[in-house]
Parts: sequence; C-alpha cells; structure tokens
Amino acid sequence: LKCGALSFLVDKANCLHSLAKEIHEQPEVVGHTLTHYVDKGAERAALPQKLPFDFKDFDRILITACGSASYAGYVAKYWFELLARIPVEIDVASEFCYREAPLRKGDLAIFISQSGETADTLGALRYAKSQGLHTLSVVNVPTSTIARESETVLQTLAGPVIRGPSTKAFTCQLVVLAALAVIAGRSRGELSDADEARLVQELIEIPRLIAAALATEPQIENLARKIAKSRDVLYLGRGTSFPLALEGALKLKEIAYIHAEGYAAGELKHGPLALVDESMPVVVIAPHDQLFEKTVSNMQEVAARGGNIILMTDERGAKEAAVDSLVTIVLPDMAKNFTPMVYDIPMQLLAYHTAVVMGTDVDQPRNLAKSVTMK
Ligand code: G6P
Repeated sequence: LKCGALSFLVDKANCLHSLAKEIHEQPEVVGHTLTHYVDKGAERAALPQKLPFDFKDFDRILITACGSASYAGYVAKYWFELLARIPVEIDVASEFCYREAPLRKGDLAIFISQSGETADTLGALRYAKSQGLHTLSVVNVPTSTIARESETVLQTLAGPVIRGPSTKAFTCQLVVLAALAVIAGRSRGELSDADEARLVQELIEIPRLIAAALATEPQIENLARKIAKSRDVLYLGRGTSFPLALEGALKLKEIAYIHAEGYAAGELKHGPLALVDESMPVVVIAPHDQLFEKTVSNMQEVAARGGNIILMTDERGAKEAAVDSLVTIVLPDMAKNFTPMVYDIPMQLLAYHTAVVMGTDVDQPRNLAKSVTMK
C-alpha cells in the first residue's frame, strides 16, 4: 500500500517509502513543534527556555547552515528583517568557515542543522565562537555535537529522520525560526501585542494548512509523470518563495536526479530566460501576496517562449494569474507571512512522485548521506 491522498487515514507504517511517511507526518510534527514555541492561550511566541540575551543587544544576525537547512535560514532572513528590522546575512557553512569573515561582538550567530553533526556547520560554529560571538543552534538532535557546543539550543521536534532528503525537518526548522523572528520583533519594539497575537494565530493554523496541502497529492502524482520526462526544470519565486524555489529545485535534484534550478523570479530576464522553451517545465511559487503581480509578469515572459508553467498559488492567484499554465496547484488560502511551510508540501510531493515514476531508489538516493561529517 502506498501513501496517497488519503494517507492520513491509513496507518503510516503502510507507506511504501520512509520518505513518503516523513512527508505525511508533517501536520503532526509541525503541530508538535509549535506547541513548544507558541503559547496559544497568551497568543504569544514562547520558547521552551529563556534566552540568555535580548535581541535589542544585536545589530546583525548571521545564519549559517548546509543544504535544505540553509534554505530554511534564507527564508528566516526575510522574517527577521521584516518582523524585527534586524539585518541578516546568510551563508553556506562550507564558505563561512574558511573565508575568515570579519565578525563583531554585536552579531548573533545562528546555526541550523537537522543532524547537528554536519562538519561544515560545526566548523562555522567553532569559528564564530572563537571570535566571541553568541551561538544559537536550531537542531533536531539535542545530543548532537552542534547542540553540545552551542550556547543556546532550540530543538525542532520533527522526530527521528530516517532518510537523507530533508522534508519534515525543514518545515519544523521554519516553525522554530518563525517563532524566534516574532520574539525578536517583540524585543526590538517592532511588533505590538496585537501584531504578535495575529502572527501567532497564523502559526497555529499551519498544521491544518499543511494537511490541506497534502490533499493535492493526486494532482501532483499526475504532474510527476510529465516532469519525469524533462531534462531540466526551473523553479521561480519572489520574497520567501525565492528560497523555497531553491529548496524545491534541490529536492528534485537529490531524489529524482533531474537537473533543476531555483531562481529569484526577477532574475529570469538576466539570463535564464534564454533556456526556456516548450521542453522546459517552470514551477512558479506564487501565493497571492504583494509580489504576485510582479511574478505574473515573469510568468508571461515564460509563456511567451512556450515554457510549461506549473503554478502553485491560492484561489485568488489562480483566478487572477491570466496566463496559460500546464497545471495550477491550488493551495489553501492563508495569511501571507508563513506561506513557505505550506507551499513546500507540493514541492516535496513533486520530487517524491517524480522519483517514483523514474524508478530511482527514493529511500537511498545516490551520493546522499544523512549527515555529512566530512569537510
Ligand atoms: C545533507 C542532507 C540534506 C541536509 C544537509 C544538511 O546533505 O542530505 O538534506 O539538508 O545535509 O544537514 P543537516 O543535518 O546539517 O541539516
């Protein structure tokens, strides 16, 4: 028996692949993580422990991680900057740990890692510590080396991760980072109590919205048959949908072995448009937010070159897009701050089902280690 659209109704152990099981666990594990990071009654973000610092004391946040965890950090950059008005620099750990970046005492260094053992992330943590920075890590394994060596540890409660490609760890990392950004906004006087209550309400809705997003699975299964015939796939997004485009492309590469690239939609005209033709599926992540109109103009550029648009949007977006898409995946209506946790679901399902159609070993992707402990 395979995990299909009705999979929440069947025993999860019946899933054909561990990866499918991890994808379908998300309403539950994201909900579980949330219970440790928001106080529903008080309508406030609330961490499991008191922070030993105040966000007011920092001028800048540095986020460092590898792979999907770095894309979670990239999404969080938008949240910290918007909600807390604090500048954020995001780095992949393999660059950060060697380039001897000038660091200042007023910087907070955040590290994100599911396993807590990724060698480059650990190297970056040690470098930040050697420069006297406060180190905070978001990890799934609280006994890991990165957790042990960090001054502050925030745990994601994704449960055991059996397989390499990050799915539930990624969405749980986003939840923890979103709560942290709200707390930073409050501490820095950027969010009123009413703002915080509204944001917390939006977070509480996420598990239900993820469950609704999982219901797109039959449509995604059909789409996967077409994607499996492609040589290259482009993923586009603006705002927080841009790092999500990077994550979507990574998933397709690592599980289905199809070349995929994520791009900021506005960068399309600066080169990659030259690649677009009838053989090129273009996944566009476009919730109906303040950037929607801009993304629509990028879709028109793709359509003019015969590119096959796969539009991920909500009902309003589907109505107003006014471009011919190969497929439109309609996701539930939601407030626009935290769309990445929900819009990542069809991306995970697309990579998974494409891999299944292609017959790759979904649970043991080639060249992929669960944690990369070599630098
Ligand atoms: C490997 C995994 C990725 C993961 C990355 C970082 O490459 O396959 O899915 O995002 O490492 O791992 P970490 O455990 O540090 O989050």
